[in-house]
Amino acid sequence: MRSLGDVATPAVLVDVDVLERNLARMAERARTAGVRLRPHAKTHKLLEVGRRQLAAGAVGLTLAKTSEAEVFAAGGFDDIFLAYPVVGEDKGRRLLALAERIRLTVGVDSVEGARTLSNVFAAAGRRLDVRLKIDVGMHRVGVLPEQAVGVARAMTDLPGLHLRGVFTFAGHAYGETDPDAVAAVGRHEGATVVAVASALRSAGLPADEVSVGSTPTAPHAMTVPGVTECRPGVYAYNDASQVSLRTCSLEDCALTVLATVVSVPAPDRAVLDAGSKTVSSDPLRPKEQGFGWVVGRRARLARLSEEHGVLTVEEGERFRVGERVRVLPNHACVVSNLHDRVLAVRGESVEAEWRVAARGRVE
Ligand SMILES: Cc1ncc(COP(=O)(O)O)c(C=O)c1O
Repeated sequence: MRSLGDVATPAVLVDVDVLERNLARMAERARTAGVRLRPHAKTHKLLEVGRRQLAAGAVGLTLAKTSEAEVFAAGGFDDIFLAYPVVGEDKGRRLLALAERIRLTVGVDSVEGARTLSNVFAAAGRRLDVRLKIDVGMHRVGVLPEQAVGVARAMTDLPGLHLRGVFTFAGHAYGETDPDAVAAVGRHEGATVVAVASALRSAGLPADEVSVGSTPTAPHAMTVPGVTECRPGVYAYNDASQVSLRTCSLEDCALTVLATVVSVPAPDRAVLDAGSKTVSSDPLRPKEQGFGWVVGRRARLARLSEEHGVLTVEEGERFRVGERVRVLPNHACVVSNLHDRVLAVRGESVEAEWRVAARGRVE
């Protein structure tokens, strides 16, 4: 078995012990809350981690893009929710091909968009399962709660669709600096979609599935009575933003970037061979502050160019050229998308090399 000392840098490491602990903990949470767990696999984009999530109790996976679903379906995953408003007859035809092979559900948030999918499915004499996206405060996509009944009714008039329920994503929780405020966003997220689902049912519309969940809000949203499913993603790896949000501790972070110090031009500055092409330039949440932390050391990735990560080194801390460090990135999902492979490690041993099968699948 290879040891970490033999690995060329920069390299993405996934600590399998930490990963498995994270998967088990969230699965247990969902079991206790009595909801189905459908993790968002955009975090890892790996068949190997998806399989572990199912083995830990997940009912299926969430993804965003049609092409990601194609990769996971080819890898044997047979129950996928695309939590994204997919639009266009070209995509509709690809979804139709997928729906012949797997249980597929797709997000919708406009009648115009949903009609493009309905046209394709109706022409084939099929119906696509859809869920209506509800905006609970993030103000990205989704219909406002008060519009939901009207839009849902129009969806049920489309012959190629089968409305199954509602879903939401409270991404605005990432802007909260206080864990109590994150919890409040989560409770509001759950309560709002449950109320929308209830309004749909009162209007004679179907709303069996009520799906919530980001990593920070999952524990709070999934315990709201009436929620049926939760879709956290980052929890598998965690990252510096989750630590900052106090969703997890440093020991819960499974993904790090192994990097080499290539220059120490000043006592307060050291440079790593990992820049924006490796650790991504995503900001730290909830408060922007650099691009990652050096694990166990008093230094922060303060500046990035493509191939250089510039550390601000605190007084009393020293780096030497050639030494290797581990960087905890701000946002694990983006790092996955930057790399062809990750190394699965236990302690100092490299157990396996995993191909990031769905990286770069943007269609
Ligand atoms: C629609 C949707 N559901 C679930 C998730 C997973 O949330 P998180 O990344 O906080 O784990 C995301 C993340 O972006 C998302 O966009």
